Formats: sequence, structure tokens, C-alpha cells
Amino acid sequence: MAKIIAVMNEKGGVGKSATATTLAYLLAKRGKRTCLIDFDGQGHSSIIYGVKNTNRLEVTINTLLRRVIEDEQLPEPDSYILKHESGVEVIPSNSQLFTLERNLCNVDFRERILTQYVDTIQDRYQYIIIDCMPQMGTPMINVMMCADSIIVPTQAELLSTQGLAELLKHYQVIRRNSNHRLRIEGILITMDSPNTIVSAQVRGLIEQGFAGAVPIFQTHIPRSIKVAEAVLYHKTICEYMPNNPAAVAYEKFADELLGAEAAADGEGVRAVG
Ligand SMILES: Nc1ncnc2c1ncn2[C@@H]1O[C@H](COP(=O)(O)OP(=O)(O)OP(=O)(O)O)[C@@H](O)[C@H]1O
Ligand SMILES: [Mg+2]
Repeated sequence: MAKIIAVMNEKGGVGKSATATTLAYLLAKRGKRTCLIDFDGQGHSSIIYGVKNTNRLEVTINTLLRRVIEDEQLPEPDSYILKHESGVEVIPSNSQLFTLERNLCNVDFRERILTQYVDTIQDRYQYIIIDCMPQMGTPMINVMMCADSIIVPTQAELLSTQGLAELLKHYQVIRRNSNHRLRIEGILITMDSPNTIVSAQVRGLIEQGFAGAVPIFQTHIPRSIKVAEAVLYHKTICEYMPNNPAAVAYEKFADELLGAEAAADGEGVRAVG
């Protein structure tokens, strides 16, 4: 069964899509069977993975969830999943997803619609990465009900850190009451300008505010204009310019994530043994 990792922060423009798309790419490059779910009506992950016009897509995460809501049969995954040359398999999205919140309004068990869908593809993969939309609401509760863990990208700026406490509150309620396996992998500082006063101060604030409650990744992703440039070529930074400092940092971040996972698995084995 796949491990489901959501990349989430209700603040916009903090590097969720850059992180989700790059992490999916790096996992696939390391031989992991990886799926990327674009769970944002802006369709940024779909665009980075080569979709030129998201409005032309026939099957999207929204149409799939509509079928779950209507209790209709789902199409065969191989008929709609986009297979990228890197090995990443993408479930795309477009602006129709903006209607999901409204469509879930009167649905029974509306917090579990995404879980019901993901259950149908979970055994195809080792990892399912979900690139989230920048708003809290029923769709995000669906993600928290279905995920094993959350990565929280945060820009190294004061205003970007302000949604973190809110996200943490939702996380704690859901973990306590419904999805007991959910945990936060860590806060990932993105678009960092190392050696600046603002970067050091923001890092200090995050450490003060959340240390103990939430892990913070050692690796920071530096700011590089090449990350935005890569999008023009429908690529992640690691594919576009593997030696760029942001690409190198994303590789280190993937090492850190997988290292922490292996250590946690080791603990589990020891505890059972
Ligand atoms: N390390 C970086 N250096 C420079 N630019 C970056 C970096 N990471 C992301 N960007 C750029 O910053 C912008 C916002 O990043 P991204 O789209 O990943 O954020 P997001 O949190 O997914 O945004 P939204 O909330 O709108 O979905 C994009 O133009 C992206 O290309
Ligand atoms: Mg995004």
C-alpha cells in the first residue's frame, strides 16, 4: 500500500507545487512507484508535468471524485492516468475542482470522498504525493483524512508563517478524532535567502513557535529564479537544472525525508521485535 504524503499550507505561493512535483520526480528517479495527485484547481502540478491546456482534460481528480459522490463506476486507471517519462504517474486537475467544496455540501460521509477514491489506486504505488490547494475547507479535510503524513512548505518570510498555527489546529483535531495515523513530516523552509537577517529571524521564530510540536527539516530550499523558469519548460528544477542549488537542496530534502522514514521503520521493527 502506498504511503500518502500531502504537501499542504493554506497560505498561497509558499512552494507547495514546486515541492510536490519535485519530490514526486525524485522518488520516481529513485525507483519508487510514484503517483502525483494535483489537488488544486489552478492545475500547477498538471502543467509542470506537461499538460498544455488543463481545460481540455476529460478526466481530472474532480471528475473522478464526482463519480465517487454519485456512486458511479470509475474508469480503469490506465485509461486516464498521465504517465510521465520520469516514471511519475499524474492525476491531473483543472478549474472544475473549484466546485468541489460546493458539491460536497450535502454528501454523506463527505470528508471521506478522496479516501474512497485513493483506495482504488493505492496498491499500484509506493508513494502518492498530493499537491494541495491554498485554502482550508472540506476538500482539505478530505486530504487530512486520507493522508499518512503532511509536509508543510513555508517561505522564509514572517507573513508566510502565520497560517501554520491554524493548520496545526486542524491537524490535531483530525489526528485525535479520526485519522490517528496522520503525522507531520516537517516544516520545509522554501525560497530561502541564506545568510540574510530575515531568513535567520524567521527560522528562529518557527523553531521557537513549533519546536517540539512539529519537526523542521534541516534542509532549506534556496530561492532561485531557475525554479520558476523550469515551469516554462514544463519541468521540475531537478529535471531542468540538476546542479542548481535549489535542485541540490531538493535532493538533500528527499534524502532527509527517506532517511527519517527508514529510521522510523527501524524503530517500528525494534518495537515489534
Ligand atoms: N525555491 C524557489 N525559488 C524561486 N522561486 C520559487 C521557488 N519555489 C517556488 N518558486 C516559484 O514561486 C511561485 C510559487 O511557488 P509554488 O507554485 O510552488 O507555490 P504554491 O504554494 O504551490 O502556490 P499556490 O498556493 O498558488 O498553489 C512559483 O512561481 C514558483 O515557480
Ligand atoms: Mg500550488
